[in-house]
Amino acid sequence: MRVLGIETTCDETAAAVVRLRDNGSGEILADEVMSQIAAHSPYGGVVPEIAARAHIEIIDSLIKRALDAAKLKASALDGIAAAAGPGLIGGVLVGLMSGKGIALATGKPFLAINHLEAHALVPRIAGGLAFPYLLLLASGGHTQILAVKGVGDYLRLGATMDDAIGEAFDKTAKLLGLPYPGGPAVEAAAREGDPTRFPLPRPLLGRPNADFSLSGLKTATRLAAEAVAPLRPRDVADLCASFQAAIVDVIEDRMRVGLRLFRERVGAAQGVVIAGGVAANGAIREAMGRFCAQTGLPLIAPAPRLCTDNGAMIAWAGIERLRLGLVDDLTAAARPRWPLDVTAERALNNKA
Ligand code: KG4
Ligand code: ZN
Repeated sequence: MRVLGIETTCDETAAAVVRLRDNGSGEILADEVMSQIAAHSPYGGVVPEIAARAHIEIIDSLIKRALDAAKLKASALDGIAAAAGPGLIGGVLVGLMSGKGIALATGKPFLAINHLEAHALVPRIAGGLAFPYLLLLASGGHTQILAVKGVGDYLRLGATMDDAIGEAFDKTAKLLGLPYPGGPAVEAAAREGDPTRFPLPRPLLGRPNADFSLSGLKTATRLAAEAVAPLRPRDVADLCASFQAAIVDVIEDRMRVGLRLFRERVGAAQGVVIAGGVAANGAIREAMGRFCAQTGLPLIAPAPRLCTDNGAMIAWAGIERLRLGLVDDLTAAARPRWPLDVTAERALNNKA
């Protein structure tokens, strides 16, 4: 089984081909990612209109590049998967329509993929990770702790009440004059810094639910920066290290609660998984390693390239769905919002 995956929900245009091996793991035959970082960095964040235009300009040639790299014609694919949301609607439409076009032309099955589900399932591409598992999904737009019980079967145990973790990294970077995207820049600066110099808050530490709140930490970081301005490189490094240490403490505490809720509501976990762009962070990976060592569960952290947005995760989610017969038709809608958990989805519908 070979599936093409297309990703355009944010500021990465990506196309990949993944093959399902007989042993149940996935082989990435092609993995093309075109980042729009340069186009957005003057604005310190993603500009939706610029993103949509950039996706349109590159998507055709990127898909062709992926098929060429995989040495495949579109007609040799077994399915076409495209992220249908959640994300910036202009970009989502570009990838979704491209995928539908290829599916229509080739007559191959089409799979409308939830971008969050792709982050949640891609750790299984290596093979050997069984359901159910505890997942920290942390990206620029999302921060959730989920029980992943099966394909399409998710229970949300906690979520952020304000900023996503990646967003907190990005905003902190911006206020400290570091480049976009902020995560890697803050992590690099933090390596040279003193994490104890600025005693920043750890919001919601010890609370019995697994939710996050990060806007207070962001404000505290800004106030600490203003108090020592003008900032020298030493100050920036210390602020980054102190900010990152606070985030790490919060994640560790929230995951501890998440695991307790998981055991109460689902049962025994097969492992702990971190996914989403923030899971590329070395300090967070280390902390989750310590957490898992204490709890006796294996930690599964996909390679950083599979943590940030990519086409292989969309193709893999397509494979997971295709082999269960969960195919979509060409009327599948682009969805700016698309919660993974059905109870969360019902709440959204009631609000709408
Ligand atoms: O999953 P992703 O590529 O796109 C979204 O769906 O949002 O995540 C991007 C986010 C950005 O906020 C970026 O700053 C953050 O992930 N990120 C990191 C690191 N690498 C990327 N955050 C912390 N440390 C990193 N090394
Ligand atoms: Zn993402």
